[in-house]
Amino acid sequence: MTSRKGIILAGGLGKRLAPITSAISKQLIPVYDKPMIYYSLSTLMLCGIKDILIITTPDNQSNFKQLLGDGNRWGMNFSYAIQQKPEGIAQSILIAEKFISDKSVAIALGDNIFHGNDLVKLLRSADSRSVGGTIFAYPVRDPERYGVVQFDQSGNVVGIEEKPKEPTSRYAITGLYFYDNTVIERAKELNFSARCELEITDLNRKYLIDQLLKVEIMGRGMAWLDTGTIESLQDASLYIRTLEHRQGLKVGCPEEIAWRQGWINDDQLEQLAADLMISGYGEYLEKLLKLEDRKSLSSFHPG
Ligand code: DAU
Repeated sequence: MTSRKGIILAGGLGKRLAPITSAISKQLIPVYDKPMIYYSLSTLMLCGIKDILIITTPDNQSNFKQLLGDGNRWGMNFSYAIQQKPEGIAQSILIAEKFISDKSVAIALGDNIFHGNDLVKLLRSADSRSVGGTIFAYPVRDPERYGVVQFDQSGNVVGIEEKPKEPTSRYAITGLYFYDNTVIERAKELNFSARCELEITDLNRKYLIDQLLKVEIMGRGMAWLDTGTIESLQDASLYIRTLEHRQGLKVGCPEEIAWRQGWINDDQLEQLAADLMISGYGEYLEKLLKLEDRKSLSSFHPG
């Protein structure tokens, strides 16, 4: 079990999804059959991380607490912090300084969804690196919307840029970041950018300059889904729906992961199932107890 701490950044104003996000946080709206934040939570859980800080806007914190509680029913430990204004992804490190303490940390953006065969392998290998930072790059059609990795002729990473007008590669940087404990000192050195944010790309660049940044490529066999616009949100829901209907297995189901990780036992899963029976989600949890491959994590991501 890892001692790495986890942060889910679930603040921001979600303006691109207004009016849906006028009264509810973006990370609480559904992606098919569950709240969006369940997917980033699942990503951290698959990595073995049990101790997670959820950073929200001041207005929305109570909703997240109502949904997730203290994590105990999933054998986990959730704490909460507030970001007063969306002043950048890297600000999460400063907000979380006490929580991180002397540990290493993984940050997941609460609106990023990952799925695929190699996910658990990639996560575990990032977790096993005790020195430096690890980020993940994924080929996309529209890299100018993201942080982008620059490679030299031999494929070495030579730079990273935030939303470049003319991207030099198709590789976007995803919203999942693994850092050693020096991230706290590095974050303290950051200056606000022209758009008044502490930029995660500037933080990653510090690791790159010190030759301590590992960029893992997520291949085309993996899915990194966008939820930034109404269209991409709908596409993500359809993707999850298609997989779940075909396989009869849920994607991003924290109760299932907690159980497969051995953080809760059969009786506890049964109780969680009973509480949710009316929506069908509970029926799924109950069915898990009867599956032939009951406890194997590999049934999420075979291979
Ligand atoms: O999704 C990956 C991309 O996320 C990366 O490729 C970029 O390098 C990174 O800057 C970021 O770009 P976005 O333009 O998607 O960032 P956005 O401002 O939309 O924020 C992403 C999520 O993080 C969003 O759900 C809101 C949350 N957030 C963002 C900021 C800036 C916060 O909670 N607080 C913040 O201060």
